[in-house]
Amino acid sequence: MSTDIEFELNGKPVRIATPETRRAIDLLREDLHLTGSKEGCGAGECGACAVLIGDEIRLACLMLAGQLAGRRVTTIEGLPHSALGARLLRAFAEAGAVQCGYCIPGMEMAAFDLLRREPDPSRERIREALSGNLCRCTGYVKIVDAVRLAAAGDAGPESPPDGAAA
Ligand code: FES
Repeated sequence: MSTDIEFELNGKPVRIATPETRRAIDLLREDLHLTGSKEGCGAGECGACAVLIGDEIRLACLMLAGQLAGRRVTTIEGLPHSALGARLLRAFAEAGAVQCGYCIPGMEMAAFDLLRREPDPSRERIREALSGNLCRCTGYVKIVDAVRLAAAGDAGPESPPDGAAA
C-alpha cells in the first residue's frame, strides 16, 4: 500500500506516493530518477549509495522510504549547490581520481561530509573517513589526492547544501 511522503530533496520539497517499506535507494534512483547514488552491495558494506540525511551520512540501501519523511536529503546531485561540493567535484576530476566511476558518488558524499566538518584533514584522516567506501579499481591514492586538493582550497566549515542556485 502506498502512502504520500514528503521530504526535502537537494533543497526542493518532494511529495511522492510510495510504499513506506520501499528502499530509499530505489525511491531515489527509480522513482525520482536521481541515478547518481549507486547500488553496489545492497547490504551496507560498500558506501556507493551514501547520501546525507540532515547532517548525517547514511546508506540509502539500508533505509526505507518512510524514513525520509520530513527529512532533509542530499544526494550527489545536490553537491554542486554548495561551493565546497562544487570544489570537491572539480578536484576529483582534476586529480584524475575517477576510474570506472561507480564508487565515486559515495566517495564524494563521504568526502564532503568530512570536509564540512574538518576543512583540512590529513591523508590519514581522509583514508579513515573514506574507509566505509570501497573502490574495486583500487584507486585510493588519487581519491585521497582529490580530497586533499579540495581541502587546499578551503573556505571553512560548511553545512549541507540547501539547494540554493549554484
Ligand atoms: Fe549501500 Fe553498498 S549499496 S552500502
